[in-house]
Amino acid sequence: MDEGLSVINDICWGNRQSRVLELACRIGLFGALKGPDAGIDQICAACGTKPEHTEKLLIACCAIGLVNRRGELFNNTEISAKYLVPSSKYYQGDIILHSANVRQRFDDFAESIFAEPKEKETDAEQWDHFIRGMDNIASTGRAEIFLSSVDLTGKKKMLDVGGGPGSYSIAACKKYNDLQAVVWDLPETVAIAKEYIAKAGLENQVTVQQGDWNNDNFGKGYDVVVMSNILHGAEWDCRMKLSKAFDALTDGGTLAVQEFLLNDEKDGPLIPALFNVMVGAYCKAELLAVIKEAGFSDIKITGENEALGSCWVTAAK
Ligand SMILES: C[S@@+](CC[C@H](N)C(=O)[O-])C[C@H]1O[C@@H](n2cnc3c(N)ncnc32)[C@H](O)[C@@H]1O
Repeated sequence: MDEGLSVINDICWGNRQSRVLELACRIGLFGALKGPDAGIDQICAACGTKPEHTEKLLIACCAIGLVNRRGELFNNTEISAKYLVPSSKYYQGDIILHSANVRQRFDDFAESIFAEPKEKETDAEQWDHFIRGMDNIASTGRAEIFLSSVDLTGKKKMLDVGGGPGSYSIAACKKYNDLQAVVWDLPETVAIAKEYIAKAGLENQVTVQQGDWNNDNFGKGYDVVVMSNILHGAEWDCRMKLSKAFDALTDGGTLAVQEFLLNDEKDGPLIPALFNVMVGAYCKAELLAVIKEAGFSDIKITGENEALGSCWVTAAK
């Protein structure tokens, strides 16, 4: 990642780090971790919080450097012991909670900056940013990591499930002239993908297909299925999606998965830990296990970029 992009990413993900810090102060996490190492149940009892949410917040705090994890036990780091425990002489929690409370000021400012009142973004406009945003991040590193992590030599037919703007299909077909790719996604998304495919001049190699994985199967006869950032964590019906991917592949076919993955200690890295709070994320061992359960073999991590939070896993049918 170049220096400029790293500045932009730090600002964007930094906003999420401050939300984690504010929430941890709000639930009294650092006070609860003041004593000896504590387990999740003990922390939840002290903070009045739910275990699953609390673990996500703890993992993010570990990744930020405010909590240490040893197995299933947690304690404060030196920084949080000094600045975030309410009884400390240097306590900063009140000003942190104050900045959380004045966030509304920023929202009000954003509303009032326009010379003429501006309509709120519609759901369709927000969806558009989401899908085009996937291409923003693919075209500034992730597509390159894909090509160096997944060998598509000799492959003929690729299915890009939940393929979004089609960035990975486009990158693959630019490199492999004999490859045909199908971007399989919801109608509102494939409309955007068509635009990107046309812009790349790849209509002969990349086509789109409308589908909804909750209702539809993925079809048959593919020798590659790509699932980029659609599996996420346990709450995202991964087993159903992986089973449909297995059925879509020919024998010996390749599954390629990109995800934000936690480490197996579940105390980082930073980007997956923040993504886990917002959306959900598996750790590496968990993702490999669900892929195995779906019937795949030869499962391996083939590419990783911690700064971007990108990890590629391949497997064979
Ligand atoms: C996080 S984006 C990933 C897009 C693309 N794979 C990438 O990595 O750039 C998730 C994608 O899943 C698609 N999606 C969400 N729900 C879906 C569903 N029920 N059926 C098919 N696709 C769906 C969205 O339209 C979106 O393109």
